[in-house]
Amino acid sequence: MASNATARIGVVTVSDRASRGEYEDRGGPAIQEYLSEVLKSSWQPVAEIVSDDQSVVESALIRMCDYEKCCLVITTGGTGPANRDVTPEATESVADTLMPGFGELMRQVSLKVVPTAILSRQTAAIRTTALIVNLPGQPKAIHECLDAVFPAIPYCFDLIGGPFLETDETRLVAFRPKQK
Ligand code: MTE
Repeated sequence: MASNATARIGVVTVSDRASRGEYEDRGGPAIQEYLSEVLKSSWQPVAEIVSDDQSVVESALIRMCDYEKCCLVITTGGTGPANRDVTPEATESVADTLMPGFGELMRQVSLKVVPTAILSRQTAAIRTTALIVNLPGQPKAIHECLDAVFPAIPYCFDLIGGPFLETDETRLVAFRPKQK
């Protein structure tokens, strides 16, 4: 992808109640607000709200990666231990490569804020040239988790053939190892 291409970023809210309109989606808008704050390079959101059905979540992820050509897809919700929480299973089922370090780091950081962080099974995965990252449904978890993993995301794109992402360094510094 050309380095100056606009990065399309999928934002998938996974919630039965939000998908039925019984609950205002606060997670999706919070993710978009976060991205507007940290990204300096051009990007555009592709947002969707879906129910907690594994096949529905899988279809949304496939659509975002394969048809909408998103380089990054961030989900919020459905990562807990309840029967209807299936976002990690959907993510793993559409993955080419699992990226367990993302979940490990997000739980580690979140545990400093809330003891129930261990209840989130959030993970990340690569599908072709897209990175999928799960976040918990709590809107306040979005900053906590993305601040932890976002510094590594631009370099992850460099490695998988995604766009060249630039961050606003007054807000978040992306780490790119020096070339040998
Ligand atoms: N992580 C952070 N950073 N902040 C939070 O408030 N909530 C926890 C956990 N991880 C939370 C968090 C709780 S209470 C649950 S049940 C799990 O995420 C799963 O949330 P989800 O099912 O909405 O994805």
